Formats: sequence, C-alpha cells, structure tokens
Amino acid sequence: MRILGLETSCDETGVAVFDTERGLLGNALHSQVDLHARYGGVVPEIASRDHLRRLLPLVDQVLKDTGTPRPDGVAYTAGPGLVGALMVGSGLANGLALAWTRPVVPVHHMEAHLLAPMLEPDAPDFPFLALLVSGGHTMLVAADGLGRYRLLGTTLDDAVGEAFDKTAKLLGLGYPGGAALARLALDGNDSAFAFPRPMLNQPGFDFSFSGLKTAVMLRVRALEKGGEFERARPDIAASFQRAAIDTLVARTLGAARKERRNSIVVAGGVGANVLLRAELARRFDGKVFYPRPEFCTDNGAMIAIAGAFRMSDAVSPGRIEARARWPLESLVPPAAN
Ligand code: KG4
Ligand code: ZN
Repeated sequence: MRILGLETSCDETGVAVFDTERGLLGNALHSQVDLHARYGGVVPEIASRDHLRRLLPLVDQVLKDTGTPRPDGVAYTAGPGLVGALMVGSGLANGLALAWTRPVVPVHHMEAHLLAPMLEPDAPDFPFLALLVSGGHTMLVAADGLGRYRLLGTTLDDAVGEAFDKTAKLLGLGYPGGAALARLALDGNDSAFAFPRPMLNQPGFDFSFSGLKTAVMLRVRALEKGGEFERARPDIAASFQRAAIDTLVARTLGAARKERRNSIVVAGGVGANVLLRAELARRFDGKVFYPRPEFCTDNGAMIAIAGAFRMSDAVSPGRIEARARWPLESLVPPAAN
C-alpha cells in the first residue's frame, strides 16, 4: 500500500510517498525560512500563501519520481498548527483523494514527529519515552503503544526551540537561530555564565524556559553596557545551551526512571542538537532513537508513515480538517487495533 503524505502545519511544505512493503520511496521539502526571517518569526498569512504556491508542484514531482500515479491513501497534517496553513494541505489532500477515489487520513503533527524514527532501519518498539522538542512544543510523553500516550510533562511557558530562537536573536544570529546558536556555542565556555536550570528543583516533569530567557537577556544588557558583549557572544551561547540541555536531559532521565523505560525517542527540531545527543548518550543506560536530522524538523515523510500506521482510521474525502489545538493525549489507538 502506498500513502502520499502532506505536511503544511507551519513553515515547511513537505511531501512524501511511503510504501508499507518497501518503506519510504520519495520525499521533498520546501522550507519557507527565508520568507519569514526578515520578520523574526513565522507570519501565518505568508505561510499559507507559500504552501499554496509550492504544494502542488512538490506533489507532482514526488509522484513522478516514485512512479506513483494513484496512491492508496492521502495523509495530511490536520493539526495542531496554523489553521490557514493546515487548510492548504487539507484542501489539496481532500481534492486529490476525491479525484482518485481514495480515502484521506488526518494526521496529528506531534504523533507524526513521534513516529519519525520508525522511518530508520533501527526503529524503536513501543513502549518508549518520547521527548518532543520543537519551536512550538516541549513534551515528555509515555508512549505505551500507537495512540496510547500519557503526557508526563510540558512547558509552562516558552517551548525550548523558542528559547533557542529568542536567545539566538539576542545574539544577532537571525531566525530561526537554534542551529546557529549551537554552532556559536562550540567556540564558547559553557560555564562562563551561571544561567538558571529552571524547574529542576521542582517535582514532576514540567519545564519552564522563560526565566532562563530573561536571565540571558539581563546578562546581554549588562555586557552591552560594559562594552563586552561582542567578545562574550560564544560564552553566552554555550552557557545558555548548557542550561537548556541540562534541564531537558535531567527531566528526561527522571521520567525514564519513573516509567522504567529503557528506550527514549527524541523528535522535533531541537532533537538535532549535538549537545543533547551527547549528554543523553553519556547519561542514559538504555537506547536513544532519533530520526535522521532532516526528519527531526517538519517533513512529509513522517506524515506519510503516520498515515500508513493509521490507515484504518482513513475517511472518505470531503471534510477539511484543520485544528489549531489538538492535545496528543486525546488520540486513541487506530480503529482496527
Ligand atoms: O520541529 P521543527 O522543525 O518545527 C516546529 O514544529 O517547531 O523545530 C524547529 C525548532 C526551531 O526552534 C529551531 O531553532 C530548533 O528547532 N533547532 C535547534 C537546532 N536545530 C533546529 N535547536 C537547537 N539546536 C539545534 N541544532
Ligand atoms: Zn513540528
């Protein structure tokens, strides 16, 4: 069975074809990062319009490249995300499925991130602990099976990727600056500044990154006044990154211990962070699974594989689904299970 997957929840247009026998056959992505960079964040209206321009040509290309004239189903991101952007993917998925007389599968974006490591040859098995870390989310999830998710902890304010992006902006690194900040941190001393590890003295598995962000901002202002900011930029990046990653790792290890999990899945854009990977490898006894770096960030392949897993939930085309909010814990196992 071949599933076409469409991702348009935010600022990447992603398209892929997944074959349940042969795995991922093709995948294409168009990133809007350059369009939004000058505004310092994603502009929803610009995102929707660009999806509209890019999506159909990408679908055409992937179907041709993979020799798939008529897939068996069309999976699309139905939420959570920007409603206007989601509607583009949802509209096209329903239109194509109607023309092909095939079913559609509305996919939950975060479930797709969580399943992305299953695109790799060394795929994790349920149950596992999932750390979902992106520009919009910071979640620790006990994944007991497909559609059986318990939220153990989430952020009370900023997402960790957002904290990376805001700090990167303070350091003049542009948007989104997580990867650039991690690169700058390589030249810095991570104990130059003692930034807070928020929430680590609190019980439970929630996160908070706004205090860390404010501490960095105050430090930057003080350094600017003293004329020392330029020289200190790598040290600020390294010290911020160390504080943010220490927090993620400590919470994750605590949750793995409590849930007695010996495998952890890390997904979402911040999962590409090298320090996070090194620290988990060093401090966790079990196994850690990651998607390949290009599938850590938003992409069509994760939507196509999530659609394949959820084919038994497929519906007839005709209803445009686009949900700004959609709690991961509200999902249930696929109908056939
Ligand atoms: O999953 P994603 O592509 O989009 C969302 O759904 O948000 O994640 C993007 C986020 C951005 O905040 C970006 O700065 C961050 O992931 N990111 C990183 C790294 N690469 C991307 N953060 C820290 N270190 C990195 N190497
Ligand atoms: Zn995402």
